[in-house]
Amino acid sequence: MRDGFGRKITYLRLSVTDRCNLRCRYCMPEDGVCLQHHEEMLTEEEMITAVEAAAALGVTKLRITGGEPLVKKNIVSICQKCSEIKGIKEICITTNGVLLPELGGALRAAGVNRVNLSLDTLDPDKYSSITRVGTLDKALAGLEAALSVGFEKVKLNVVLIGGFNDDEITALAELTLRWPIDVRFIELMPMTEGFPPEAFLPCAAVLERLPELERVPEKGGTARLYRLPGALGNVGLISPVSDHFCASCDRLRLTADGKVKPCLHSNAELSLKGLDRAGMEEVLRQAALAKPRCHEPLSASEMSGAGREMNRIGG
Ligand code: 5AD
Ligand code: SF4
Repeated sequence: MRDGFGRKITYLRLSVTDRCNLRCRYCMPEDGVCLQHHEEMLTEEEMITAVEAAAALGVTKLRITGGEPLVKKNIVSICQKCSEIKGIKEICITTNGVLLPELGGALRAAGVNRVNLSLDTLDPDKYSSITRVGTLDKALAGLEAALSVGFEKVKLNVVLIGGFNDDEITALAELTLRWPIDVRFIELMPMTEGFPPEAFLPCAAVLERLPELERVPEKGGTARLYRLPGALGNVGLISPVSDHFCASCDRLRLTADGKVKPCLHSNAELSLKGLDRAGMEEVLRQAALAKPRCHEPLSASEMSGAGREMNRIGG
């Protein structure tokens, strides 16, 4: 399926829940979360039908997101069923890792190929501060679990925040010397209030800090790839703010309450809640055609037009 600008849509990000066991400052507002009623949310069956509809339209890659997908009770079953859908070649999960020691093995066995883990700092106090309620030990146990159960790829997502973790760029990148993981620095997107302008650091700051990074050619994807000499994994730079990747956008997003979002940074939404497979296909097609060429600029003073917090979209 192609969108109105000829971009091929092959990637669906499915948010299975808006709930989370953490409260990251860049994702959720200070005063907590607005949780929706159970009846408004997609059922497991509707999620599977939506993925089948997407696969029929040419989606091959599925990312399961949240909120935190691992707090969803039937997450293993959802992944298992998605992995059996014809056309879906790859299933990835984005998680904070807290529940991976319990669920990692079952998810791998259910057909999840890859995981992305959120880890913004290696300092226990800073970790508790950015997640508001989390403890670093649990995230690190999640990383170990991810590595031990044999996912094909493990990536760490580091949201780069000036004045918070820019002093840890080297330490975080050097995790790739110790483990076969990719460490990806992601520019902070203005999704919540409360970050000062200096928090919005461009990814170029990583290159300034680490001139020894060598460029690695990438095969698609939103990250520009680099490698430290002798490293076991790559350092990725993801620049949604300073260098948006709209021109190569290949994705649709489906929220846990059944809204297809043609673009992360637009409040346009098309509902597929309650529809049958054919109806869902039609909505997905319309959503692809509703994709804008590009979103409005983002910066410290220009908030995302997403119209929802990240936990209600899928990070
Ligand atoms: N800016 C950048 N990345 C974000 N994420 C969530 N909110 C933001 C934001 N405001 C990403 C993080 C996290 C994942 C769940 O979503 O990478 O790891
Ligand atoms: Fe939860 Fe992820 Fe949002 Fe943090 S970024 S609050 S872990 S959904």
